[in-house]
Amino acid sequence: MTKISELAALFPLANDIPADARITPLHQRETLVGGEMRRHEGDTKTVLSAVHLRQEDGLLVPAEVGSYPLGGPKEAREALDAAVSAYDSGRGRWPTMTVAGRIACVEHFARLMVERREEVVRLIMWEIGKTRQDAQKEFDRTVEYISATVEALKELDNGNSRFQVVDGTIAQIRRAPLGVVLCMGPFNYPLNETFTTLIPALIMGNTVVLKPPKFGALLFYPLLFAFQKAFPAGVINTIYGRGEEIVPYLMGSGEINVLALIGSSRVADSLKKQHPKSNRLRAVLGLDAKNPAIVLPDADLDITVRECVAGSLSFNGQRCTALKVIFVHRSIADSFVSRFAEAVGKLRCGMPWEPGVQITPLPDQKKPRYLAECVAEAVKHGACVVNEGGGESAGTMFRPAVVYPVNERMRLYHEEQFGPVVPVVPFDDVNEPLDYIIRSPYGQQVSLFGNDPQQIGLLTDQLVNQVCRVNLNCQCQRGPDVFPFAGRKDSAEGTLSVGDALRAFSIRSMVATRQSSSDKALLTAIVDGRRSNFISTGFLL
Ligand code: G3H
Repeated sequence: MTKISELAALFPLANDIPADARITPLHQRETLVGGEMRRHEGDTKTVLSAVHLRQEDGLLVPAEVGSYPLGGPKEAREALDAAVSAYDSGRGRWPTMTVAGRIACVEHFARLMVERREEVVRLIMWEIGKTRQDAQKEFDRTVEYISATVEALKELDNGNSRFQVVDGTIAQIRRAPLGVVLCMGPFNYPLNETFTTLIPALIMGNTVVLKPPKFGALLFYPLLFAFQKAFPAGVINTIYGRGEEIVPYLMGSGEINVLALIGSSRVADSLKKQHPKSNRLRAVLGLDAKNPAIVLPDADLDITVRECVAGSLSFNGQRCTALKVIFVHRSIADSFVSRFAEAVGKLRCGMPWEPGVQITPLPDQKKPRYLAECVAEAVKHGACVVNEGGGESAGTMFRPAVVYPVNERMRLYHEEQFGPVVPVVPFDDVNEPLDYIIRSPYGQQVSLFGNDPQQIGLLTDQLVNQVCRVNLNCQCQRGPDVFPFAGRKDSAEGTLSVGDALRAFSIRSMVATRQSSSDKALLTAIVDGRRSNFISTGFLL
């Protein structure tokens, strides 16, 4: 049996799928708009799984997960109108509600969401090919993110539940919503990363138009019912369809106040330009990255190899934080490469539901071809695939390829491959990777492997001004979620952490008056009589 057919044999026959992983195709025909589950009568989009099914004759055919409504500008307009009307220029029930009231709705939603865990996890597995364990982790991390957001908001709001008196002016300063948020997450963390903007946007009093990602759209369906039950009508509205058709339409309306996008800088750049009043648009963006690892001569290779494997190949390298190029000092390059290749060779390829599996099918059916082209081009320019079987593919399964030695003539040196190919670049002088980072259009994170305090200290001082997180002897990553997640250059706009996101989706607004006895009496009457949700000294426990 050839290597290719070994990979093909990893795909199941329909009857081989274990009962606890099976899925009944989900043909979604409704979207949530203005508090109603609206029936869609128009075109639909078939959702093909990352997982292919092996036919008796060996042919691989993508499994069908279901279909969803293919809305256009008309449907986008309806969703937008519902969000605009629920916001009602800041006078709607949601933006004027007490913080405690909004927290209660979000907590209600979280309870309902947890009931749909298994359905959502299964859809994550089938739609994007994430392992069951990682899909569960994604779900649970999202629920924890919601609780942490609630706690962070209580702390923020309690800190603002007081008056300040400065130079004869009495003021109360709180955070107020911004308006209508267009929220779009990525396919690799369709639930988690969408919710890391959606939840703070909602809880701060904004209303939302949510467009699920291209891969990973159906998994939102079970949650639509929870949104409907937990939030007032129009607070959250969904739109499904071709992004390139719908999103420019929404942006061009001028009625979107915040663009929350985790995606590509090319798309973000073009969308921002579509808004007719750029000063009225806030952008919260998580974009491209090509995080490098720099392996110094005195690095502990056990730790370095372990972290670089996890950093470059978790979820098949499809993480914005993934290590996408590894610079290794030439003095240890051979030994690093052979140990790294050996460790990569031990990664288990298989279907998302198989216990212990690490490499799974890719959701983008075109990706294996792109990756193969990048590898072939590197080989043409003198690199080799150093791990056995690296770069072989069958259907959507692509065996990770460790490519060495990579140099600046190769696409793998520059492009964000976002998949299971790991370029390794040897260097003689640490200024080579430093120059790479300085010249790079990206500036998210870096991983530094070494043990010399003098050198690590010096490099850190320089690197923190190029990226937003320097990881010492560990892989790049977003978490823990209370830490700031940001990027420079084309990698991000704004900072997302549990606390920072609350600020990103709100603006400070205040009420102020002279310190006269009549105005003091007025404020006291408002507070004592609970006449305002903004002017209040209530404490959230
Ligand atoms: O795709 C980008 C994610 O935010 C990465 O998150 O580092 O926790 O995998 P992670």
